[in-house]
Amino acid sequence: MITFILNNKTIKTPEHSGMTLLDFVRYHQRLTGTKIGCREGDCGACTLLVGELKNNTIEYQSITSCISPLGNAHGKHIVTIEGTNLKDKLTTQQEAMKANYATQCGFCTPGFVVALTGFALSNSNKNYSNAIDAISGNICRCTGYKAIEKAAHQVVEKLENQEENSFNWLIENEFIPEYFESIPKRLKDIEIKDLNQPKGKYVSGGTDLYVQQADHLADNNVHLIAEKDYLKGIKIENEICTIGTNATVSDLWNHTQLNSILPNLKKHLKLVSSEQIRNMASLGGNLVNASPIGDMTILFLALNSNITILNSEEKERSLALKNFYQGYKTYDLKNDELLKSIQFKLPTENSFFNFEKVCKRTHLDIASVNSAIHLSIENDKIFEAHVSIGGVAAIPKYLHETSAFLIGKPLASETIIEANQILQNEISPISDVRGTSDYKRLLGRQLFFAHFTTLFPKQFTLNDFVQHA
Ligand code: FES
Ligand code: FES
Repeated sequence: MITFILNNKTIKTPEHSGMTLLDFVRYHQRLTGTKIGCREGDCGACTLLVGELKNNTIEYQSITSCISPLGNAHGKHIVTIEGTNLKDKLTTQQEAMKANYATQCGFCTPGFVVALTGFALSNSNKNYSNAIDAISGNICRCTGYKAIEKAAHQVVEKLENQEENSFNWLIENEFIPEYFESIPKRLKDIEIKDLNQPKGKYVSGGTDLYVQQADHLADNNVHLIAEKDYLKGIKIENEICTIGTNATVSDLWNHTQLNSILPNLKKHLKLVSSEQIRNMASLGGNLVNASPIGDMTILFLALNSNITILNSEEKERSLALKNFYQGYKTYDLKNDELLKSIQFKLPTENSFFNFEKVCKRTHLDIASVNSAIHLSIENDKIFEAHVSIGGVAAIPKYLHETSAFLIGKPLASETIIEANQILQNEISPISDVRGTSDYKRLLGRQLFFAHFTTLFPKQFTLNDFVQHA
């Protein structure tokens, strides 16, 4: 039985684990405040909160329920817009939306209010920029975003007075109803057994699979792995970082040590979808999606990562991520195998890492072209180089020849211009809805140059390259 708390009610259901959480909430529980827009994780109309006990404290995150399997709610607190309501008045977030005329047809409003409630409950700093991030996955077709931004600002102004992150304060200040206080204890009291997982399609966060095949997953066996501990965790030991493939993009975002090792990590991850999707999408899912423009794949290719693969007999094997991909959406993984973890050597103080992405919408869009680079420099000479690029080949591409060319060369504009010529020979973009092949070649060049102007702004400007390229 899937067991969880939905708002203030304990649910035990024999329903199929692969049904979407959205359908369960709307059609089985008649909680129709949660809306259906795109069913692809793109609009935020179906935003819910998921509360999970971690080390005796509860942490809430926002998700898009249209691409989340019901089984992933097991053992958690799920909050819909109805569950955020106070008895006879508006919550602070609802009041802010009303006072700033931030709603017209109202279709998107529950999603925005739930996302702002998630922001109030989160551990993130209560500033305006983080509030805007929290609603970056929500689209409004009629109000115009200024009014919504003003509402977010009003919420932040009130949250700034919060002395400590506590339910009591949020309850007293009308952000959440009183029953939230009872949830941690009630979650502890639920006897959570591992769901009996049938053989079937492996699903972790579901953010990719539910876009492609939600109906199929709702009707067939799914093997949910998001809660498997052996696929979780981020460990840094002996100069090696090992990340379990169940780690979400948000897990990377929130990892203090990892962010100190890769100081621009948050800036890069901000380009990877909206907050709701970052809270759900697993690293392993992104790798086996094998999209030629998978952001996380491109990032980890440039970190020259290895992957560990586990088979049904619990035997492990390792290989370089750059050798994993074989052709369009094909890779070196057998039917009984599962990606277990990804490892990379920590960058040193002479290392430089950068990620660039061009897409039509800053958040929540797939790249036209994306690229990452990792360089180690000593005495103005490159002694290690790894360059990756997406959207210009059938696979997420590690640029073997360009990377090899850079090694041993001086860090100079001539080197970079020549390396771009090699890069252009290594890629083979096709024309599609994301742009013509010529345009993608141009983006490949510009992003490659942008790595150097971003990493070494005192040394290079774009003009140094473009005039000669
Ligand atoms: Fe659009 Fe779920 S319905 S994100
Ligand atoms: Fe109509 Fe936002 S108010 S979609």
